[in-house]
Amino acid sequence: MTVRQNLLKAESDLLRYPIREVVEIGKQLEKMGHFSMIWENIGDPVTAGEDVPEWMKDILREEVSHSISFAYTDSRGDINARQYVLDNFSSEKVCTVDDILFFNGLGEAINKILNNLPREARVLVPSPTYPSHATAEAMHAGCDYVSYQLDPENDWEPDLDEIENKVRYNEQIVAILVINPNNPTGSVYRRETLEKIVAIAKKYDCFLIFDEIYHHMTFDGVENTYLYEIIEDVPGISMKGISKDIPWPGSRCGWIEIYNAETDKNFSDYIRMLLLAKMLEVCSTTMPQQVLPALYSNEHFDALLASRIAKYQRRADEADEFFKNVPQVRLNKPRGVFYLVVELLDLPVALLDSKNKKIRLYLNRLEKMPMDRDFQFAYELMGAEGVCVVPLTGFGSNLTGFRMTLLQEDDAVFTETLKRIGRAIKAYYS
Ligand SMILES: Cc1ncc(COP(=O)(O)O)c(C=O)c1O
Repeated sequence: MTVRQNLLKAESDLLRYPIREVVEIGKQLEKMGHFSMIWENIGDPVTAGEDVPEWMKDILREEVSHSISFAYTDSRGDINARQYVLDNFSSEKVCTVDDILFFNGLGEAINKILNNLPREARVLVPSPTYPSHATAEAMHAGCDYVSYQLDPENDWEPDLDEIENKVRYNEQIVAILVINPNNPTGSVYRRETLEKIVAIAKKYDCFLIFDEIYHHMTFDGVENTYLYEIIEDVPGISMKGISKDIPWPGSRCGWIEIYNAETDKNFSDYIRMLLLAKMLEVCSTTMPQQVLPALYSNEHFDALLASRIAKYQRRADEADEFFKNVPQVRLNKPRGVFYLVVELLDLPVALLDSKNKKIRLYLNRLEKMPMDRDFQFAYELMGAEGVCVVPLTGFGSNLTGFRMTLLQEDDAVFTETLKRIGRAIKAYYS
């Protein structure tokens, strides 16, 4: 039989998530070559080998012994978790406990925030960007997302002139999205830059969306500026979650903090819609919310976070030293987060010696399809050196390169990963 209608929405071509798409191909290559890929595609500390400490497991063990942990919770989220978030990560100057909404991961919040806007209300997103934002923006609008550039010649800071021009001349733009600290670039923006973005939003009556999920992940001596510190009376949303703070991204637990919810009628009507949309689903998963205060306030939490950040910083230092000797690339040393973007300058189209003939034939077939040059590089890198990275164009950038992570738990494996990538780059350009 054939289902009686086409089941694809017109905009389904816009639905992409390259961070996981490369994995499908990587898995095939692993099978064909009988080798183990080094997975550098995803920001999951646990997959990368980080241990989940016993004290965290103890908190969860204790929680499952209470029947109430198995119940639904408030649609906004568990009240104690929301109060904890307000007291520790937010500010009563611009937010109340009822302005905090929990979601099943920030991924869900991103989709809800964009999907509940009318089609013609556009959100200006960065390029490169975390793909969920760009894809959700494009899907809700039914056409390509609208974006502003992050400038690799200026530490990947946002291009403020471009933001202002786009907002001024495109009346459909209702919000500016900022990811700070930034995925994929690892930059942490200067306070003046962020203040200027707030000023643009204020001048043109837009609201702000700051994805601050990496707010704890800044390297030694790097100050992070929070949206609540600078937003004044502009309406805005801060997005945070536990996926990056705590090695438990599978908890699927993120939240939004709505700032100045009542200062503008259009904004408060939209926020009510968001809450209704959440109510339709009853609530987000209860247990991670119930343990949230105990996890963050545990006596070992700060030390765990500090040691994780120190490791990422060590990895960033090593990678920076390594890539200094690779003339074909440009690198801005990250100031936080656990990713590294390596730009591949004037990237040619080339083939590498694959691990075996089967892989070569598979890649030949795959690479017949039209694709950005850095996608071909990423496929060749997997087929030749067994390292999976995400192409930079997959983050909505018009620059070629790739993003790798700084998460690898094993020092020797990280060094080996750099060597393999370096070898591939050299061969690719020769
Ligand atoms: C910038 C950014 N926002 C949101 C998310 C999604 O986080 P969650 O695991 O809470 O869905 C990620 C995950 O990598 C991210 O990097």
